[in-house]
Amino acid sequence: MLQQYVEAVESSNIVSRTDINGIITFANDEFCKISGYSREELIGKNHNIVRHPDVPAENFRRLWETILAKKTYKATVKNRAKDGSTFYVNTTVVPILDETGAIKEFVAIRYDVTREVELRMKLEQKERELELLNRSLEERVRKQTRQLQELNRSLEERVRQEIAKNEEKQRMLLWQSRFASLGQMMANIAHQWRQPLTELNLSLFSLKEACSRNNVEELDLLYRQSRHIIRSMSETLDSFMDFFKPNRSSITFPVEESLEDALALIRKALEKAAIEVRIEGETDLPISGIPNELTQVFVNLFQNARDAFENETEGMRWLRIHVSRDEENAVIVVEDSAGGIPAEARERIFEPYFTTKHSSQGTGLGLFMSRMIIQKSFHGSLEAVNSLKGALFVIKIPLSETHPSPSLSQVQEGAR
Ligand SMILES: Nc1ncnc2c1ncn2[C@@H]1O[C@H](COP(=O)(O)OP(=O)(O)OP(=O)(O)O)[C@@H](O)[C@H]1O
Ligand SMILES: [Mg+2]
Repeated sequence: MLQQYVEAVESSNIVSRTDINGIITFANDEFCKISGYSREELIGKNHNIVRHPDVPAENFRRLWETILAKKTYKATVKNRAKDGSTFYVNTTVVPILDETGAIKEFVAIRYDVTREVELRMKLEQKERELELLNRSLEERVRKQTRQLQELNRSLEERVRQEIAKNEEKQRMLLWQSRFASLGQMMANIAHQWRQPLTELNLSLFSLKEACSRNNVEELDLLYRQSRHIIRSMSETLDSFMDFFKPNRSSITFPVEESLEDALALIRKALEKAAIEVRIEGETDLPISGIPNELTQVFVNLFQNARDAFENETEGMRWLRIHVSRDEENAVIVVEDSAGGIPAEARERIFEPYFTTKHSSQGTGLGLFMSRMIIQKSFHGSLEAVNSLKGALFVIKIPLSETHPSPSLSQVQEGAR
């Protein structure tokens, strides 16, 4: 029966025996087959004949430690066959003891697990590759995202720069147009000053008279009159200076502020052309922006009206400014009775450098700049039509009460 057990074990396993020094004393057919050595080649050789150089010495130390301590050693071991090929075996080494308890020999029973081990290694290799691929994919996605973000940032930067450049250009144009009207402004100052200068001249003459008559009271009166005239001349000059002062801060102010400033600048010119000025409606409506810029718009519109009257000899001469409100805007209508915009010019009056005037009188920037100011600085609109008597300009500017503060529904939306 023992012999039968031995055959049963040997036929299904790789079996070998070694003496206490590891010298092979027995090898079964399965061992010969897997190692590629003949029985003759194996017997009498050290068992390390099948040792694979990859296996660290530490493993053998542990093997010997275990079996010399009369314990059973179990492990999966990498071996090398005669032809150099590798095979893996699940190994059990059992020390056999004699009746005194001393180690007599070792029996090693193994079975071939090369396929399983190789499969597992392949699987692990694939897993590593997959992970690597995954990581490189992640890395690539990250890199692409970074590149996209950078592109985005540089685009934003460029857009910002372009906008800044554009705004700078518009400011330049605005100044150019304001200074282009400098000539007209000088003419306006001259108009404003002509009358007081004449009055001063008269006063001086009267002063001289009063002096010669030693009339102290009249002297005093004339002196005070002259001072008054000089003060108002100085004020005129101030308002012109203000108009040309660079002023960039946006504030909330009533429409009439700009309206009055503009009229102060060209009132005399309008009077001289015998144009009656009427201001009507809710002139105190509040709007937001740079007051000087709106003043510039009014000056442009008033100058245009005055110029238009130069070719218009018939009828009443009037300039009417009417301020009202619609749902959210201040609506400012500037209308004249100067016959209207010529049909052939109507489509083009807001184009830059379009003018029907002689080059010494117009650059064609007035209405272009006016519209730009209303749109860009005041977020409003400027349109022109012809009325029965003349040209009619409509300026719409969001009312300051409604413009920057959010509507009730927006507040509720935000609260939700
Ligand atoms: N109130 C008006 N009545 C009739 N035509 C007008 C009136 N306002 C403007 N126009 C026409 O529109 C044109 C363009 O006006 P705009 O103010 O842009 O330029 P300009 O007055 O010709 O020159 P600038 O204002 O630069 O001195 C004028 O040349 C004129 O033909
Ligand atoms: Mg003009």
